[in-house]
Amino acid sequence: MEVLYLLVVSVSVVLGAPSGVHNVTHVDYLMPEVQPKQADTYLCNPLKMGKEVKYIIGFEPHANMAIAHHILLYGCEEPGSHEVWNCGEMASKTSSYKVGPVCSSGAKILYAWAMDAPALTLPEDVGFKVGGDTGINYLVLQVHYKDVTSFLPPKNSHDSSGITMTMTDTPQRRRAGVYLLGTGGYIDAHTVTYMETECPFQEKFDVHPFAFRTHAHGLGMVTSGYRIRDGQWTEIGRQTPQKPQMFYNSTTPGLVIHQGDILAARCTMKNDLDRRMYIGSTQNDEMCNFYMMYYTEGDDIIPGTYCFSQGPPSYYWADDINMRNAIKNIPPNASVVPGESKPLKQTAVKGKYEDKNTVADDYSNLYDVKGANMNTDLASMPPLELHRLLTYLRSRGPRSYDDDLYY
Ligand SMILES: *[C@@H]1O[C@H](CO)[C@@H](O)[C@H](O)[C@H]1NC(C)=O
Ligand SMILES: *[C@@H]1O[C@H](CO)[C@@H](O)[C@H](O)[C@H]1NC(C)=O
Ligand SMILES: *[C@@H]1O[C@H](CO)[C@@H](O)[C@H](O)[C@H]1NC(C)=O
Repeated sequence: MEVLYLLVVSVSVVLGAPSGVHNVTHVDYLMPEVQPKQADTYLCNPLKMGKEVKYIIGFEPHANMAIAHHILLYGCEEPGSHEVWNCGEMASKTSSYKVGPVCSSGAKILYAWAMDAPALTLPEDVGFKVGGDTGINYLVLQVHYKDVTSFLPPKNSHDSSGITMTMTDTPQRRRAGVYLLGTGGYIDAHTVTYMETECPFQEKFDVHPFAFRTHAHGLGMVTSGYRIRDGQWTEIGRQTPQKPQMFYNSTTPGLVIHQGDILAARCTMKNDLDRRMYIGSTQNDEMCNFYMMYYTEGDDIIPGTYCFSQGPPSYYWADDINMRNAIKNIPPNASVVPGESKPLKQTAVKGKYEDKNTVADDYSNLYDVKGANMNTDLASMPPLELHRLLTYLRSRGPRSYDDDLYY
């Protein structure tokens, strides 16, 4: 297929621009009059970056709201293809476009816009550094065409949705980055399941989160992200992935992450289907992702873009030694869908979060016995072993695994 890059570049010296910004360029990065013919098509269009480093300091969406459901901008080491291709997570193989991933290597999400959503504004003097030696050799624009009736007869129309990027070659005082937290694992049929992850933040520089995005397929009810400092949780963002999956402002403006803090996220999933759902990339799978957009004062970004755990049933915060001081303080609203009042409580993995029927009354305060990788029937334990276990658990202290304390 012949690919037309609709790339209009205009250079202007902006009067009254923020300090340190000269040579500002506006790049219209649009779809080249595409004509997707199948509902729920995701199309990607690549844009090669140069040898010179550039900074993206602004994004403005141009979308035909009636047909472009969302727009995502990725940075790639290598794009999934070099001409417009079908790059859906849920790509249909019957599409007239070649099917491929968004990036074949080094995928980083930079921007997201969704139908009816206000555009994301970057804080002052913040830029995404691209090109040169940044590892972002290409940008890839992804547009989700949910409804394609206007591309079919009798209209047979074409689309050129995209974004205008404000770019400059002047180094910015603050560098933007996106850090992704997520899990593997599965969600059993007819359960509410928590998918949890955490990573200690070890860098010497501070990180300032200012926006976040959640991503899941149909089962995601609410996804929340946190900074944990000295066992205290502060919300970075919480949203239901059933709303447009764009970047929203952080729910705690001005939050700073520094060395020794923990970053954590939980996806609360509800599976009413008759089958187990695994994490994966097709429409028959689920995903648990929390994206944190941040800036640093200077040129640093968090190395390694991912914080992934194995997810349920093998991983829960409650089993994680790093979370020992934090587990009792999980905010009750971590699994509350914004606008609702009650948390969705985990029902999955019997024994993991409940102490019913198995622990003798005397020991009923030891909530963790069933959860701490020791699926032990206390009644059947030899007395000496039981004594050792209880001594250990007492010295460790309760860890609040039960339904009432573990929200
Ligand atoms: C502006 O861009 C031109 C051409 O790309 C370059 O020669 C010049 O040094 C730039 N000026 C500033 C202030 O960055
Ligand atoms: C997000 O925050 C920015 C900067 O604080 C503000 O200008 C903007 O209006 C906010 N957007 C929304 C949708 O609240
Ligand atoms: C969520 O719960 C925490 C801890 O109880 C509280 O500090 C915070 O204000 C709550 N957030 C919202 C949005 O209600």
